[in-house]
Amino acid sequence: MEKTFVMLKPSAVTRGIIGNILTRVENRGLKIVAVKMIQLTAETAGKLYAVHHGKPFYKNLIEHVTSAPVVALVVEGEDAVKIMRKLVGNTNPKEAEPGTVRGDLAMTTTKNVIHASDSVENAQTEINIFFKPQEIMTYKRADENWIY
Ligand code: CMP
Repeated sequence: MEKTFVMLKPSAVTRGIIGNILTRVENRGLKIVAVKMIQLTAETAGKLYAVHHGKPFYKNLIEHVTSAPVVALVVEGEDAVKIMRKLVGNTNPKEAEPGTVRGDLAMTTTKNVIHASDSVENAQTEINIFFKPQEIMTYKRADENWIY
């Protein structure tokens, strides 16, 4: 089983579409093993998006993700990183396929409602920024035998 980091951005929280997005994750067969709502500081946002530091969109990105609370998640499943990225859709919502979170629920790249790690290595780094090991749960989904 693989774990990935997911963050519902202020554009999801303030629009009241957290439940809509979480339902998609659960329905796909992925397991939510950690969840917390937090107000990001510029420092924590800077750690998450360190790779984008200096890019033209960086300032807007940090402004957006610190503008209201976010919901941070750890999501587990077979190929969770890849499956979650497919569920999320293209970074630019205008290019995202209908049926994906961004393709259904967003219009702009800055306010694209969700972030999901792009590799197993980055997932571990990002999980460590937001969660202590004891905050990540272990449990069996009742429908696990029907999903796998
Ligand atoms: P996310 O998946 O959170 O990763 C980096 C974020 O930067 C991305 O989603 C977008 O919200 C934001 N961003 C804004 N402009 C761009 C761009 N041109 N390319 C990539 N990411 C961008």
